[in-house]
Amino acid sequence: KRLILIGPPGSGKGTQSPIIEENYCLCHLATGDILRAAVAAKTPLGIQAKEAMDKGELVSDDLVVGIIDEAIKKPACDKGFVLDGFPRTVVQAEKLDAMLESQGNKIDKVLNFGIADAILEERITGRWIHPASGRSYHAKFAPPKVSGVDDVTGEPLIQRKDDNAAVLKSRLEAFHRQTEPVIDYYEKRKVVSNLHAEKPPSQVTEEVHSVLSA
Ligand code: AP5
Ligand code: ZN
Repeated sequence: KRLILIGPPGSGKGTQSPIIEENYCLCHLATGDILRAAVAAKTPLGIQAKEAMDKGELVSDDLVVGIIDEAIKKPACDKGFVLDGFPRTVVQAEKLDAMLESQGNKIDKVLNFGIADAILEERITGRWIHPASGRSYHAKFAPPKVSGVDDVTGEPLIQRKDDNAAVLKSRLEAFHRQTEPVIDYYEKRKVVSNLHAEKPPSQVTEEVHSVLSA
């Protein structure tokens, strides 16, 4: 299966994607995680992406299309993948289609994480992540076993630089203006399944399973 997760910041894409990856043996590609790793390592990609990310704006289509183009050609992604955070513009969606077409493949499903903006600030400002794995926790909704520490590795958790109310506002604007049209783009192909992303994580997981087993 070739899947796309679309939803606003804090809608739960990164929470559900490791579960999907594990249950369906898909390769998991999150452009946000890849970009944050590049920023931390100060690679040329990271240096180019940092300013836009800090402001909550999208980085250029060319940069992220390059990341995905390289990644989906890897043998690990032959059987299928789950894309978290890509495509986020119609141009990115068109480029992805062209890449897949040249391999004789196509997108099977787009999971749309539907949720009202008002719920997202509490989710974003309470989030703690383990940078190495991308695992995320929430101070109130999904606390780690020991406060401030990753359950699996015991390493410290951090907060993302863009996880504050002011930057969230720009991220939401970018979502409504640039990414919502991507949902319409896939609606036309009848591949979109709508999830109730405001529900608790386990119920969202159940919805994901029922969509993917259909
Ligand atoms: P990215 O990393 O993709 O961030 P985002 O889209 O803003 O999404 P988030 O990671 O904030 O939300 P999520 O849906 O994964 O939420 P999570 O599951 O963690 O992108 C960051 C930046 O990189 C962009 O702003 C842009 O600059 C750049 N970028 C990336 N891709 C790009 C692209 N394709 N083109 C251009 N630029 C790009 O959940 C959030 C919190 O809520 C967590 O604490 C979690 O524990 C909790 N939670 C999750 N689900 C539930 C639930 N059901 N109930 C209660 N709490 C929950
Ligand atoms: Zn995420």
